[in-house]
Amino acid sequence: MSTLISQCSLDLLRQAAENLKSGGLVAFPTETVYGIGADAENYEAIQRMYAVKNRPADHPVIVHIADLDAVDYWAKEIPDYAIALMRDYWPGPMTLLLHRTDKAKDFVTGNQEVVGLRMPAHTLALNLLAEFKKIGGLGVAAPSANRYGAVSPTTAEAVNAELKDYLESRDQILDGGASLVGVESTIIDCTKENPSILRPGAVTAEMIEESTGIVVMDPDDVKIRVSGSHKKHYAPNAKVLIGSAAQSGEGLIAMSDTETPSGAIRLAAPKSIEEYARALYGALREGDKQGLKTIYIEPPHGTGLAVAIRDRINRAASA
Ligand code: TXA
Ligand code: MG
Repeated sequence: MSTLISQCSLDLLRQAAENLKSGGLVAFPTETVYGIGADAENYEAIQRMYAVKNRPADHPVIVHIADLDAVDYWAKEIPDYAIALMRDYWPGPMTLLLHRTDKAKDFVTGNQEVVGLRMPAHTLALNLLAEFKKIGGLGVAAPSANRYGAVSPTTAEAVNAELKDYLESRDQILDGGASLVGVESTIIDCTKENPSILRPGAVTAEMIEESTGIVVMDPDDVKIRVSGSHKKHYAPNAKVLIGSAAQSGEGLIAMSDTETPSGAIRLAAPKSIEEYARALYGALREGDKQGLKTIYIEPPHGTGLAVAIRDRINRAASA
């Protein structure tokens, strides 16, 4: 069993970085969700990370970087609009898909010619990446720290519950508190003339257009595989239904102004869209913990982050 570490001193982060460098797996917090990290240049470590997740080995994984210096190592032919996005929204909840250099191997890109890069906005994650860089590490490959198809973890306890049976004793789970955003990063394809969003997140289409001054296009290239874009994903064990008609003994997630039907179990009552995003995955987990068979979710209205929340709810609900 791995170690769950709650007080992350710089010494511990240094040790975690060394652990990554020698092939260990380190789960760490980011502002979106927790990731399960492996050295992006270590084939064996990444294979083991896939096994821990039970994820198909040909799926691409996001490379997390400490600073902008690492971009040219992994990516080339970077369009100006991608540079604008990096300047405006990194560190932050945004992953850019860029043409890969030969440093980004097939085992990171899922045999594709694009690499996914992200600089997370979480002090602990950034310090870990910085310590990793000091000892020669160039990127940490990290998918969300859940078993394949399951709900992404937003706390260290949730990572522990998902993965403890599969991690080895040398692996570590760093506790940095609850993730502030709560849904995964926006994935933006930057290999075309215009950006397009492959997975909505906290960096919205409006924000991309404001930063780049160009229009966001609809994704037309089905050749790029994004596993979170499979219809059934982000799903709890309970059956997820859209709406608020929860019967007695069934779960309900909805904005605070929606009333809880008598006997239904209220799993979250967020007062804002931001709070909704932060609470959603924890509420789904709580429903499973309570052994609920059915969870009703009333999706939030509106644009911005609400688009990402509706996307995840629809996937969780698709049978
Ligand atoms: O917020 C996030 O993005 C979190 C935190 C840990 O950074 N990570 C995350 O990773 O959600 P994951 O693997 O659960 O979802 C990333 C998605 C996957 O669906 C993957 O297929 C896609 O990004 N992706 C990563 N690299 C890619 C690439 N080179 N080409 C196409 N899709 C890629
Ligand atoms: Mg995931």
